Amino acid sequence: MFSSHFSPFGLIFIRFSIFFMPNPTTLYPLPGYDKLCFLKPLLNNPMIEVGDFTYYADFEDVHNFEKNVKYHFDFNNDKLIIGKFCSIAHGAEFILNGGNHQVEAMSTYPFNIFGEEWADAMEGRQYPHKGDIVIGNDVWIGYRAVIMPGVTIGDGAIIAACTVVTKDVAPYSIVGGNPAREIRKRFSESKIAELMALKWWDWPIEKINLHAHYLCSPPEE
Ligand SMILES: CC(C)(COP(=O)(O)OP(=O)(O)OC[C@H]1O[C@@H](n2cnc3c(N)ncnc32)[C@H](O)[C@@H]1OP(=O)(O)O)[C@@H](O)C(=O)NCCC(=O)NCCS
Repeated sequence: MFSSHFSPFGLIFIRFSIFFMPNPTTLYPLPGYDKLCFLKPLLNNPMIEVGDFTYYADFEDVHNFEKNVKYHFDFNNDKLIIGKFCSIAHGAEFILNGGNHQVEAMSTYPFNIFGEEWADAMEGRQYPHKGDIVIGNDVWIGYRAVIMPGVTIGDGAIIAACTVVTKDVAPYSIVGGNPAREIRKRFSESKIAELMALKWWDWPIEKINLHAHYLCSPPEE
């Protein structure tokens, strides 16, 4: 199963790491602590996709995660897609397309939803639909950030606390403010290209276990 160049000590380490590494199907990966959960085992909603090891922390109740996914109605057929190894802080909110009113019309008031005489008010017209929210891998979403509909956040990005993200965020960039503006890139363009090609989050878990210390160190420029 493992290549032969590992030392005997390495083999012992690998075996231990298989037994004791966090299990992505565990709801509460921190023993005795229920304010942080892996999202994949928590969610059972076909309109939300989440990758392994992505976690959500909530000071009150991690079940608030779905409460933070707003205006997500099945008739809109839009999805919230989140990659692997993301860190999502308390109060991060995702606004889907069910919250959109008309912008070009004379009134933003949604007459048709009240039926009766107003039932046909939207005939021939549709509410704006900006598409899915797509969050890449290894994205850190800060406290109370708000992600608007149709936004794609690239791998390795950081969303600063209380940021409102209205436009796509480039991979390995840090954005902050309302509306979100780029604060800076995390690495040089060439290093970002290398990391995007590396896609460490898709490595076999044994390889990730072996390289966890390397992943927690700055990349060599
Ligand atoms: C963005 C963040 C990671 C800081 O990154 P950093 O590289 O250390 O940045 P600095 O603190 O040096 O700030 C850099 C710039 O970003 C701005 N900035 C920092 N946080 C910001 C925020 N939340 N919103 C808007 N701008 C912000 C700073 O004012 C500074 O601006 P300037 O260059 O005009 O002076 C951090 O501020 C943050 O928001 N972390 C999230 C914390 C959190 O929510 N944790 C939850 C637990 S998972």
